[in-house]
Order: sequence, then C-alpha cells, then structure tokens
Amino acid sequence: MTDRYAVFGNPIGHSKSPLIHSLFAAACAQDMSYEALLAPLDGFAAALRAFAEGGGRGANVTVPFKEEAFRLADSLTPRAARAGAVNTLVLEDGHILGDNTDGAGLVQDLQVNQALPLAGKAILLLGAGGASRGALAPLLAAGPCRLHIANRTAAKAADLARDFADLGPVSGGGYGELAGQGFDVVINATSASLAGELPPLPPGIFNGGALAYDMMYGRGETPFLAFARLQGASRLVDGLGMLVEQAAEAFQLWRGVRPATTPVLDHLRQG
Ligand code: ATR
Repeated sequence: MTDRYAVFGNPIGHSKSPLIHSLFAAACAQDMSYEALLAPLDGFAAALRAFAEGGGRGANVTVPFKEEAFRLADSLTPRAARAGAVNTLVLEDGHILGDNTDGAGLVQDLQVNQALPLAGKAILLLGAGGASRGALAPLLAAGPCRLHIANRTAAKAADLARDFADLGPVSGGGYGELAGQGFDVVINATSASLAGELPPLPPGIFNGGALAYDMMYGRGETPFLAFARLQGASRLVDGLGMLVEQAAEAFQLWRGVRPATTPVLDHLRQG
C-alpha cells in the first residue's frame, strides 16, 4: 500500500515540499505519496490527528506550527529538544516522534553543496527567533572557532547564546557591537527578508572570501544578499539548498534511504 506523508502549514499553497519529496520518492523507488495540507490556525492538532488516523506515516510541519508540533510530540530527538521546534514528525502506532532537520539541512548545504567546512570558521548568525534556535546546535557541532548571534533585540541574542553555551563558543548581542568585527560566514536567519528589509548591519563584517547566506529563497536577491554583494562578500547563497537538504534528512528518517539532492536542486533552480 502507498504510504502517506504530508506537509502542514498555513499558508501552504506555494510549498515546494510535495515536488521535492515526489522527486526523492521516484529516484529512490519508494511507494509513497506526499501532499500539502492547509491546517486552520487553531486546528493543527486535529488535522494531524485525522491524518495519523487515516494512515499517515509522517509529516513535515512549517510556519506557524513548528512550536505546536514540538509540544504535541510524544518524544523528541535531541536536536529537536534543543531547537524547541519540530519540522518533521514520524507517526507510528499512535506515537508521535518529533525531529528538527532544519539546522542539519543548513549545515549540509554549507559544508557539502557549498564545499565550505565550518570547522575553525568565524560565523555570524543574524536573528534570535525560531530559525536561529533551530540552526544553533548543528552549527556548533560543525566546530566553528566562534559563533556570534546578532539581534535587533540584543537581550534575546544574549539569552540564546547562554542557552547553547555548553555546545561551543557562542556569544550574542546587538547589531551595534558588530562594528570592527569580521566573519567568514554570515547567515541571515531573521524574517527581515520576508518584509523586504535589511537588518541594521554595519559595514566591514565580511572577511576576505566570506560567504553570505540568506535562509530565504525564491524572491530574487534579498536586501541582505544585495548588501553582502556591495560589501564584497565572495559568495552569495539563498536558502533553497537548505530547503532541499532538510527534506532529504526527513526523507531518510522516514524511509531509511538517503536521496541524492543535487538533481532535485538543479530541477528547482531551472524551474
Ligand atoms: P523565525 O521563526 O522566522 O525565526 P521569529 O521567531 O518571529 O521568526 O523571529 C524573527 C527574527 O527576525 C527575530 O530575531 C527578529 O528580531 P527581534 O527579535 O529584534 O524582533 C528578526 N527581525 C524581523 N524583522 C527584522 C528587521 N527588519 N530587522 C532586523 N531583524 C528583524
């Protein structure tokens, strides 16, 4: 019988996940379906329950349900527990396992697709919301020499750094403190790009050869990537690779096989 999977979100109409997972399934010869399901803002738990009772085997969860999925899960992987949010659910015999593959997807995109080993690098992470929280444990596990979190609300960045200090050399503060500091990798995990805005970055934050990464994708050059280009960043990368890599991690968790991501990324970039 065909195994059912789905992504839940609101809105969900433009999700690329059904296409990504159907390409993975075809390439890995997996008998599965994957659909996008719109859950009412106050009806995620009920929608998930109905999906599980109807034979659903697993799900992805996107905005705005990742924190609710975290709370609904019966058990959590260590990285999901750290992230405080869940983007992948395994549904098995009435049990819900919550995982978070976003950060691993980011690190995989940087280290493998971009061929940029993070060990020994100075990383600047912009934003102290859910997207940053999800990325921190995998980023620190990659062994940077330092990871600094900058946020408009400086106290949130300092708090987040404190929460992860046991995992590596992490600090946090406001944007003003960045003046005079250079980084090898600057990752925009704020929601500023969504609003067409640029975090208040000082000049001079990109070291020679630096890579600028925006978790946002599909909207052309974001204000952050435009700033990075003008500031001399050597490489500009959007979040499409992270999207495909987090999907591959989820697929592997569900199906036990690791799909190749390059053909899927090429397909999406051409489309
Ligand atoms: P997400 O789950 O996408 O991380 P979030 O938890 O609402 O969303 O967090 C949004 C992040 O983007 C926050 O770090 C926010 O900064 P504040 O904590 O100071 O609000 C940041 N952000 C949003 N718009 C921004 C802007 N125009 N400039 C700088 N940072 C911005």
